[in-house]
Amino acid sequence: MEKMIIEGGDSLRGEVRISGAKNAALPIMAAALLTPEECVIRNVPQLQDVRFMTKILQALGAEAELAGDAVRIRAVRIGDTCDYDLVRKMRGSVCVLGPLSARLGRARVALPGGCVIGARPIDLHLKGMEALGAQVAVRGGYVHTRADRLAGREIFLSGRAGPTVLGTANVMMAATLAEGVTVIQGAACEPEVADLAKFLAAMGAKIEGAGSPTIVVTGVPGLHGAEHELIPDRIEAATFAVAAAATGGEVALRGARPDHMSAVLDKLREIGVETRREGERFLVRPAGPLRPAHITTHPYPGFPTDVQAQMTALLTQADGISIVTERIFESRFMHISELARMGAKVYVEGPHAIIHGPNKLSGAEVMASDLRASAALVIAGLMAEGRTEVRRIYHLDRGYERIDEKLTALGARVKRAEDQGP
Ligand code: EPZ
Repeated sequence: MEKMIIEGGDSLRGEVRISGAKNAALPIMAAALLTPEECVIRNVPQLQDVRFMTKILQALGAEAELAGDAVRIRAVRIGDTCDYDLVRKMRGSVCVLGPLSARLGRARVALPGGCVIGARPIDLHLKGMEALGAQVAVRGGYVHTRADRLAGREIFLSGRAGPTVLGTANVMMAATLAEGVTVIQGAACEPEVADLAKFLAAMGAKIEGAGSPTIVVTGVPGLHGAEHELIPDRIEAATFAVAAAATGGEVALRGARPDHMSAVLDKLREIGVETRREGERFLVRPAGPLRPAHITTHPYPGFPTDVQAQMTALLTQADGISIVTERIFESRFMHISELARMGAKVYVEGPHAIIHGPNKLSGAEVMASDLRASAALVIAGLMAEGRTEVRRIYHLDRGYERIDEKLTALGARVKRAEDQGP
């Protein structure tokens, strides 16, 4: 196991290239199961989760190989089962359910179970598959679907916490091969859903409205191979923007899509961070003392839950009381107790994190618990006085490509080290 050792106090300066979007890569790689022809996906981030998705496709019988930032997939003959040992390690693998059900007429996918940030049910995925005419049964810890041919229907797919991103992906993918027209109401509007639709259209699917709450899919008899270049990762870009603000430096985000980050940039500007576009680069730097803010996470285009932890770390330095409300997941405040151990004055009250600032943080040994909480602890370490050791950084490697190298190139003193601890 590895840890990251961070000497705090340096301002980040320079340019960082934003990698392809992890949360576009996973469903798009799964979509390649819909055709026996070769698909090539480019600008793929070299991440643990992407390598794992490649393994899942291979376990299903597809040819899949990662070469640099491209992945080639050819699903000629595939099985219908994605077993527990795979799914339990990466929840995102649930997005093979739609493609397998549509391509084979049946699927057997292990229930993903919860994770530290919440129960992560998939009831809406199953509601969508049933609406398309599949018989859906849950037994032995697996979801079993069966349907000779799926049939298009009008489906409302939002739940108690709003739309489901991977649920929308699963139903949209399955609908591409269903008989007739499917209308998904209450669809997730994330850019990753729109990017998936773009790839599916390149494969010959007929989809309108992706990126809006209403997606219309007209089924076709079959899909062909395609090539695709992933959109940049808006969450990685937001993480580096927050890190620039946190360290008082100026960072150019190369390849970022500011139009995918409006809610984050709006909040950063509100607390006193300057942003400006310079051609292909988007610059971020603080312009004076940070002001407190009230932030509530919402489905896209609202403030993304995947940037909540990073922003909470930053707001420990704002001059006043900030309130961060998490409305998407039940327990996405695992970073709070670790920030408190570094001297932050922050506490949780139900879905709210109350942050009193500014408070100088001091370096400490802290424990990463999930992907975005780890990013928050790294940002805190960059701000803190002295040395911070973030342990269990395998969480970080799931979603950030070579983050230590990228931070070092921006002037941070970070390095990986073996962690003998539990
Ligand atoms: C995707 O997860 C992302 N992961 C998550 O990013 C992201 O936090 C999340 O969307 C919300 O934006 C990938 O794309 C691989 P949801 P997903 O279904 O699709 C509830 C990261 O850090 N819900 O949109 O699994 C659910 O419990 C990861 O990169 C149901 O109730 O999330 C949650 O409260 C973390 N029933 C809310 O909806 C369902 O059937 C949103 O979940 C499905 C979801």
